[in-house]
Amino acid sequence: MFRYACVTLLLLLAAEIRQSRSTEVKVEEDKKLCLYANLMLNFSVTYEVTGKKNATVTFTLPENVTTNGSRCGNDSSLLKIGFGKGHSWALSFMRDNQTYKVDNISFTYDLKDDTIFKNSSSNDTKTVTVGGEMEAVDLNNIYTCKSHETLHSGLVQQVFWNVSLQAFISNGTLSKNATICRADLPTTTPPSTTITPKPTTTPKPTPLPQPSTGSYHVNANPNSTFCLLAMVGLQLHYKDSKEFVSENIDPNITTATGNCGNNGSDAVLVLKSDHVTISFTFVENKQKFFLHAVNVSVVNGNDTFHSGNANMSLWEAALGTSYMCNKQQTVNVSDSFAFVTYDLRVQPFEVKNSSFATADDCQADKDDNLIVPIAVGVALAVLVLIVLAAYFIGRRRNQARGYESF
Ligand SMILES: *[C@@H]1O[C@H](CO)[C@@H](O)[C@H](O)[C@H]1NC(C)=O
Ligand SMILES: *[C@@H]1O[C@H](CO)[C@@H](O)[C@H](O)[C@H]1NC(C)=O
Ligand SMILES: *[C@@H]1O[C@H](CO)[C@@H](O)[C@H](O)[C@H]1NC(C)=O
Ligand SMILES: *[C@@H]1O[C@H](CO)[C@@H](O)[C@H](O)[C@H]1NC(C)=O
Ligand SMILES: *[C@@H]1O[C@H](CO)[C@@H](O)[C@H](O)[C@H]1NC(C)=O
Ligand SMILES: *[C@@H]1O[C@H](CO)[C@@H](O)[C@H](O)[C@H]1NC(C)=O
Ligand SMILES: *[C@@H]1O[C@H](CO)[C@@H](O)[C@H](O)[C@H]1NC(C)=O
Ligand SMILES: *[C@@H]1O[C@H](CO)[C@@H](O)[C@H](O)[C@H]1NC(C)=O
Ligand SMILES: *[C@@H]1O[C@H](CO)[C@@H](O)[C@H](O)[C@H]1NC(C)=O
Ligand SMILES: *[C@@H]1O[C@H](CO)[C@@H](O)[C@H](O)[C@H]1NC(C)=O
Ligand SMILES: *[C@@H]1O[C@H](CO)[C@@H](O)[C@H](O)[C@H]1NC(C)=O
Ligand SMILES: *[C@@H]1O[C@H](CO)[C@@H](O)[C@H](O)[C@H]1NC(C)=O
Repeated sequence: MFRYACVTLLLLLAAEIRQSRSTEVKVEEDKKLCLYANLMLNFSVTYEVTGKKNATVTFTLPENVTTNGSRCGNDSSLLKIGFGKGHSWALSFMRDNQTYKVDNISFTYDLKDDTIFKNSSSNDTKTVTVGGEMEAVDLNNIYTCKSHETLHSGLVQQVFWNVSLQAFISNGTLSKNATICRADLPTTTPPSTTITPKPTTTPKPTPLPQPSTGSYHVNANPNSTFCLLAMVGLQLHYKDSKEFVSENIDPNITTATGNCGNNGSDAVLVLKSDHVTISFTFVENKQKFFLHAVNVSVVNGNDTFHSGNANMSLWEAALGTSYMCNKQQTVNVSDSFAFVTYDLRVQPFEVKNSSFATADDCQADKDDNLIVPIAVGVALAVLVLIVLAAYFIGRRRNQARGYESF
């Protein structure tokens, strides 16, 4: 029995490993690599079976394929992958001076293949072609996309994942520079790295005036007192397709909404301007509160930038107090998004009479506050030294004159 279980486990493992194998193809021209692809691809094909019924079959692009019919050109290239009993899948690439992209994807399948299309009522060969929706990739960059992407086209659906792809390889070697698909860029899922709450220098903020400080509040209904208060000057830095862009939040056109945190529920502050929406989620735990999540979306024309992190612990203070940080503070939320706060004061829980309670200062402010006591201390020490020096000098002079001081 045990042995049987082991064998089953091994078989399952083997099946798992087989399933997760990707298909890798290389096309060469003059013995130099010019086209490369490594990907996982599932086809789902609906076809008519005997008895006027439809059946749908899902199968994976096998590892064992041919590249017959592929060619590399100066302006266009074709990757043609043949597999199984007469099926083929082809990508045609186009390039311009700076970029390349997939122009279209064409899939040809032979319904005669009864290992895949069981009981097919037709022996036809069919072809579907879809316009490539792949983003343009910089020349000499490899395109990578781990996320699942689905292409629908009538009776055929194609699902891709773990894709690496490079066309118009100039050098015979794959590029080390990758263009990562949008779907792989961090959105609301927390990145693996934890953020550093201390001020950092990356990304470089472009010179912008310091943002105006806004006062924001949230209440449960228009007649109730405020349950969340915030004062902050906010500057955003985000990576808009290629470059980091910086912008200030203008309090004059920014409204605050959100949720009151009570009975264990989180407190949320949502700031919304004409094109930016940024939300801050605070949680309470063990008589303290802290900032736990930040999500941002920025709409620029037809593009929307999203980023966030739901795994933060910043701005911690005791429940019933507010958190304050007058110094500029940079918070790196993700690889593509950071924000800077000025004159920050926030109280997400237990607001009484719609006004701030006493504040817990941030470390940066405390460092500042230490300077005064240190200066006073140093001045006192210097004073003591001067007095001591005067005493000893005076004493020596007196001795030299032969007096005995008491
Ligand atoms: C099979 O699918 C085709 C295309 O979607 C559709 O026109 C046809 O009515 C379907 N046949 C049956 C029996 O469902
Ligand atoms: C791909 O197809 C196989 C069956 O061939 C299936 O087991 C697997 O779940 C599919 N994966 C995706 C992501 O569609
Ligand atoms: C791959 O395909 C070739 C030719 O079709 C065949 O000879 C070979 O056995 C196949 N290999 C595997 C591992 O299926
Ligand atoms: C690929 O093409 C070459 C030459 O055109 C031919 O000799 C070879 O048999 C083809 N391979 C397959 C698997 O069709
Ligand atoms: C491609 O470019 C090379 C060098 O620029 C040139 O020699 C070759 O003729 C071009 N090939 C085609 C098909 O245009
Ligand atoms: C591409 O480069 C060629 C010659 O280098 C130039 O004539 C052409 O205008 C460029 N095209 C674009 C879209 O930049
Ligand atoms: C398909 O081909 C097979 C073998 O070539 C034949 O037996 C069958 O009748 C054909 N079916 C149709 C629908 O043409
Ligand atoms: C060309 O290949 C060499 C190594 O073979 C590499 O150092 C160089 O960066 C490559 N250049 C480009 C533009 O890919
Ligand atoms: C890769 O990117 C770096 C920085 O963007 C650039 O300096 C380098 O030339 C690129 N390499 C290739 C082969 O394009
Ligand atoms: C707010 O107060 C006004 C006037 O007192 C009243 O008419 C309205 O119903 C109240 N709204 C809510 C949500 O309590
Ligand atoms: C916001 O409005 C105030 C008063 O209405 C004005 O003084 C200030 O300049 C405005 N700030 C911005 C950034 O427009
Ligand atoms: C936005 O999309 C609309 C409709 O697709 C298009 O007409 C417009 O040119 C696009 N604007 C930009 C800035 O891409």
